[in-house]
Amino acid sequence: MVNEKLPKTTAEFETELIEIRHLFHQFPELSNEEFQTTASIRKLLLEADIEILDLPLKTGLVAQVSGNKNGPVIAIRCDIDALPIQEQTQLSYKSVNDGIMHACGHDFHTTAVLGSAFLLKQNEECLAGTVKIIFQPAEESGRGSLHILETGVLEEVEAIFGLHNSPSLPLGALGTRSGPFYAAVDRFEIEIKGAGAHAATPEKGTDPIVIAAQIVSSLQTIVSRNISAFDQALISVTQLTCGNTWNVIPETAYLQGTVRTLKAETRKLILDRIRQLSSGIATAFNASAEISFSDGPSAVYNDSKWTDFAFNVAEASGFITEEIPPELIGEDFSDYQKHIPGVFVNIGTGTPYPLHHPKFTVDDNILLKTAHYFAILAEAALHELTTG
Ligand code: NI
Repeated sequence: MVNEKLPKTTAEFETELIEIRHLFHQFPELSNEEFQTTASIRKLLLEADIEILDLPLKTGLVAQVSGNKNGPVIAIRCDIDALPIQEQTQLSYKSVNDGIMHACGHDFHTTAVLGSAFLLKQNEECLAGTVKIIFQPAEESGRGSLHILETGVLEEVEAIFGLHNSPSLPLGALGTRSGPFYAAVDRFEIEIKGAGAHAATPEKGTDPIVIAAQIVSSLQTIVSRNISAFDQALISVTQLTCGNTWNVIPETAYLQGTVRTLKAETRKLILDRIRQLSSGIATAFNASAEISFSDGPSAVYNDSKWTDFAFNVAEASGFITEEIPPELIGEDFSDYQKHIPGVFVNIGTGTPYPLHHPKFTVDDNILLKTAHYFAILAEAALHELTTG
């Protein structure tokens, strides 16, 4: 009779992880709706006898593995949600949830970090402290990071580590950088109030379309004329809506877009300039502009000590390490970094389609290695905090 308690071989463990990932992939759920995903994670953790903390979270959870209970506390974070995209792969385990897809590889992150939790649990008596393992909901939309932080579960955490897969990095490479890594993400909306008129008598109205056009052009001068050429920032106007026919000057125009920055002072300067230019131009044309901003996450900013540390552990774990340039995408991992020093790394998968593409895939061949990496990183970080 087979003894079920016999330790698994590496190959068996890898097969198990791949099967788990395929299941997550098959049943993706949108931000803040990850009920089944959370239940599956919970079940797998409980089967491995891993403690799950009792927290008021609708979806997502935080688990913990402790060695020395008086030792330091660190955290590993992954995200668990999927995107409103219709999957176009031919995978045997493609999404069965219509219009929802793990097109950002959060199924990979979840499984790799689950794997780390299993490995840490096997080795728990050797841990110099506690590892909190965050399965965060709603990274794509909803700032799930804030739900986790609001529980207070991370108050004692001294260092935090997170990951994202990267199709553009080769398989087996680990990339990150010290300092700003991903951008602060802001959304702006501008409503211009003019005065409608017959298209044949524009002098009797205030044409908001002409004003909107001036604003769109002027916003482009902010990056080119107000920001140093050595700084990085981006403004994209992505929507301009006004009018509904050919012979009427409309009363209002609406435009919106996004600002991406790597430094807090650049972010402030750009938001101030958007406000000044929009209201100044509207006033100059005898109209008014209502401007609003919705704050997204701030820039992911990697702590230099922990970045070096993460690189060193990666090299020792057989990854090819690469210092990679910052990107102007966003990540709510930055919310944790406002309170806790840490590092966010990219795991190369060398796959053909970019993140959020309907044919996006990850490479299962790097799953086990990533699980091992985060387990070793956590163990080493606790040791570092104890002795360092
Ligand atoms: Ni993602």
